[in-house]
Amino acid sequence: MYVVMNQLHVPVEGRENVANRFANSGEKMKGINGCLDFMFLHPEDESHYPVVLTKWESKEDYLAWIHSDEFVNSHKQRRDNLDKSPTQSNEIFAYEVKHSI
Ligand code: HEM
Repeated sequence: MYVVMNQLHVPVEGRENVANRFANSGEKMKGINGCLDFMFLHPEDESHYPVVLTKWESKEDYLAWIHSDEFVNSHKQRRDNLDKSPTQSNEIFAYEVKHSI
């Protein structure tokens, strides 16, 4: 199992907007091969950043999604409207799962 988190560097005033951009993502990610879970995490402590959490059957499934049209399309809106997106930058954290329930 493989976990990838994307930390979105969004100022506090843009977080509602960014959360709304992910409103339909759960349904979309259900259809992606090997994707076991998706969560958009809003931080309790506002000094922390929102995080997109994804869980995969394997690293190969994650890499296949990253190179798919679905991935490109789901990030297209942001690319095309870069000036309107409150996300300033991001940081990816990837993990191999060693233990789980
Ligand atoms: C390269 C930098 C990236 C940035 C700045 C970024 C930012 C965003 C933003 C703002 C959205 C919402 C869609 C929109 O506003 O158009 C989105 C969608 C999403 N991102 Fe990223 N993202 C990046 C790469 C990644 C990576 C590597 C992952 C892997 C975990 C990821 C996971 C997701 C997921 C699961 C969605 C929802 C997909 C959907 O609705 O179909 N993103 N991303």
